[in-house]
Amino acid sequence: MKPLIKVKALTRIYDTSQNVIAGIKDVSFEVREGELVGIIGRSGCGKTTLLRCIAGFEKSDSGEIFLDGKRVSGPGPDRFMVFQGLDQLFPWLTVKGNLIFAMKTVNKDMTPKELRERAEYFLELVGLSAWADRYPYQLSGGMKQRAFLARALSVSPRVLLMDEPFGSLDAFGRKAMQDLLLKLWEKTGITILFVTHDIDECIKLSDKILVFARGTLKYSIYNPLPRPRMVEDAAYREFLAKLSRMVEEEKDIAEGPAREPSINLKWADVILQ
Ligand SMILES: Nc1ncnc2c1ncn2[C@@H]1O[C@H](COP(=O)(O)OP(=O)(O)OP(=O)(O)O)[C@@H](O)[C@H]1O
Ligand SMILES: [Mg+2]
Repeated sequence: MKPLIKVKALTRIYDTSQNVIAGIKDVSFEVREGELVGIIGRSGCGKTTLLRCIAGFEKSDSGEIFLDGKRVSGPGPDRFMVFQGLDQLFPWLTVKGNLIFAMKTVNKDMTPKELRERAEYFLELVGLSAWADRYPYQLSGGMKQRAFLARALSVSPRVLLMDEPFGSLDAFGRKAMQDLLLKLWEKTGITILFVTHDIDECIKLSDKILVFARGTLKYSIYNPLPRPRMVEDAAYREFLAKLSRMVEEEKDIAEGPAREPSINLKWADVILQ
């Protein structure tokens, strides 16, 4: 099958007044349509940088990103990013108003009735019908997350880019959101790139897992476990141990001496984090 996303030798350097930091270095991978890809690695390894480059919010210094064969050169409605924080809704609009605003931005041809009905459909999918006319400040954290998801899906992006979206929720809220995300993914068939620190969350959700360390893609592996994935299963525990080792290995690298960089810069100035 043709890949939907192709990332080829992507490098993003941050050049600040104090130093030059490689956010991501020479990263290449492919994502097939409908895949749910988990991106894991310790803080500072380049996960957000990668998502922001794919979203088109950041320009890479070298390398290319293709979406459905077309080169990504900036943001577009085919990619929607969901962030970690809980303040992503416009506070002056109701929940339904937030969805309608987003849909209007990407599709000028929809009638007010179509917009309303589509907003209602997606709010029902995430279980927020009763809250459609409330304002963001009236929602709990979990409800806000469900509203972001409904808003993201309502604009029909090809790819959902999720940057630790459930990080601010408690364990119960997190589990509920993971279940909801899987339900929505199965229903819509949307392609998802999901950044997380949580190895269990990564295993539970992802088909394919990209393990990052210090800006480089260290491993790209398929999740061998059938769904639903149960912690009680021996195969789950075996895979958890394997993935943990890969992520831990990353820790050893991060704490060891800097490796030889592979891109052409004034290397004496480069701090590899
Ligand atoms: N705008 C920026 N200016 C300078 N350096 C940056 C900038 N954004 C990111 N970096 C650096 O690039 C590296 C990768 O950052 P990034 O935010 O992608 O990491 P991350 O894996 O998302 O971390 P976390 O898990 O903490 O969110 C870090 O060393 C970070 O300090
Ligand atoms: Mg991040």
